[in-house]
Amino acid sequence: MCGIVGYIGHREAQPVLLNCLGRLEYRGYDSCGIAIPGNGIEVYKDAVRVAQLEKSVPQNGANIGIGHTRWATHGKPSQINAHPHTDCDGRIAVVHNGVVYNFQRLKDQLVAEGHTFRSETDTEVIPHLIEKYYRGDLEEAVKRSLLEINGSYAIVVLDQGSHRLVAARKESPLIIGIGDREWFIASDVPAILDYTDRVIYLEDGDVAVVTPEEERITNDGKEVAREEHLIPWSIDEAEKSGYEHFLIKEIHEQPKAIQNTLRGYLSAVEPAIELGVDIDADDILIQACGTSYHAGLVGKYIIEELAGVPVRVEIASEFNYDHTVLGKTMVIGITQSGESADTLLGLKKAKRLGNKTMVITNVLGSSATRITDQVFYIRAGPEISVAATKSFTAQLVALYLIALSAAKIEFKGRASLVEELRKLPVKVQRILDEEDKIARLGKYLAGFDNAFFVARGINFPVALEGALKLKEISYIHAEGYPAGELKHGPFALLTPHTPVIAIAAKDDTYEAVLTNIKEIKARESPVIAVAEESDDEIEKYVDFVIKVPGVEPIFSPVVNSVALQLLAYYAARERGCPIDMPRNLAKSVTVE
Ligand code: AGP
Repeated sequence: MCGIVGYIGHREAQPVLLNCLGRLEYRGYDSCGIAIPGNGIEVYKDAVRVAQLEKSVPQNGANIGIGHTRWATHGKPSQINAHPHTDCDGRIAVVHNGVVYNFQRLKDQLVAEGHTFRSETDTEVIPHLIEKYYRGDLEEAVKRSLLEINGSYAIVVLDQGSHRLVAARKESPLIIGIGDREWFIASDVPAILDYTDRVIYLEDGDVAVVTPEEERITNDGKEVAREEHLIPWSIDEAEKSGYEHFLIKEIHEQPKAIQNTLRGYLSAVEPAIELGVDIDADDILIQACGTSYHAGLVGKYIIEELAGVPVRVEIASEFNYDHTVLGKTMVIGITQSGESADTLLGLKKAKRLGNKTMVITNVLGSSATRITDQVFYIRAGPEISVAATKSFTAQLVALYLIALSAAKIEFKGRASLVEELRKLPVKVQRILDEEDKIARLGKYLAGFDNAFFVARGINFPVALEGALKLKEISYIHAEGYPAGELKHGPFALLTPHTPVIAIAAKDDTYEAVLTNIKEIKARESPVIAVAEESDDEIEKYVDFVIKVPGVEPIFSPVVNSVALQLLAYYAARERGCPIDMPRNLAKSVTVE
């Protein structure tokens, strides 16, 4: 997810473009750039934040331009991979948000036709395609080029001389802000609110031509009119798309994050999985920190069940100092940021010991990707809130894909599991649709200072994760425990003031968890159960039930963890905690 902008009007374009980009940095901030006409098209771009770039961009009086702030997906963050990208002669410049899935084939074809490419990006094929089809009309050349692109895009195109911008969208958001004889094209509303609150939302397939006099929109060759909206939000609200916190926004982005992660690896129809990584090892050791460590623990259940490959999971900061014996072991690091010092050290240790390494990360070009032999990118998009949510479920999806592809034998039910995987975004959306019910329980939980989370089997790590989320954003002291372990000590802490959140998944642990719940109730602790919507039994034994959609047991950690994220969020909100920036924490811990 990147941020793109375009401006045409009567103001000096440079400061407008940079200001709009600064408002979109929550969409991606690993590199940025602008293009404005001057001596030909002048492009200023680098792997820096917008405020840094500002220092090196002269004002040259131009009243038109385009800009981009990047969240790298193809080609690591660097000056050359930053946008805008241009054609061979630098007469056409393009900024793009989205992914061109067939870029390699198009690039090979264009190179064969004599085009010279400078970057590793998928985007660069677009200005070259426009150059190929340019016959004096920028709009026609853009439309012709888009017919060849398979993927998602929002683009703004600037050319030398026509003094117009051409913008188009398919699956990625794009708006046009309307000012007095000026237009502001952007990925999202926050970019333009300093200048106007009048907005047009472009729809899939729309191509807009914006000149100093007007904007004209066509779709499928026919002129269309898009309704103008007035934006009621402040800028702060807008960056969160109207959500109160980045955390709740990111919780709601999970269906998309899961879809985007699947999309990169799951072919549209066949249960074929193209990972591009190879799990050739006798056994696997996963090492990570915090939420990523919890994902690793779920990964152990998934990989051992589906692929039959033995998996060990270690906390990275301990792995760095222990004497774990590694044979022909593949060492996998899981890290959203790709920058956690403990996980990086663990990967370096594995390299030093001569083991194969892989990282599952959300950040392209991050340090971890420069250490390991293989990289598996999740596609959760930028995660701004300190507490990890959408990156956790996207990491689980990565582990399902790895397990399904590592399964050497063609096992019965594989295709149906792949089908279930495809349905996960819809199942997660159904939990989000029931948010209010969970919010009420969050408010109830906010009244306590201590809590336990319990579960068994593949959901035990989800109990750990639920406890971590509650701890880090609501400051309620919470412990995650295997449900069968409470009676070996923690039972001593059970009172009517110590609620227990019990995950009762419909798998082979269900009856045992129910027994544990009865034992807990016998000590008068309030129990909130997380159970499948078809489960009418559980109500009899607990105080409250959070119902989640039915899924194959192996996928239950995804739906259960989203429910617990919402529970923690509403408890923290009820307590008035600084949810996106909890005290004493950082989004990525870059020190040991
Ligand atoms: C989770 O909500 C926390 N932000 C923290 O535990 C985090 O998961 C941990 O620091 C690991 O970060 P990483 O995934 O970026 O390596």
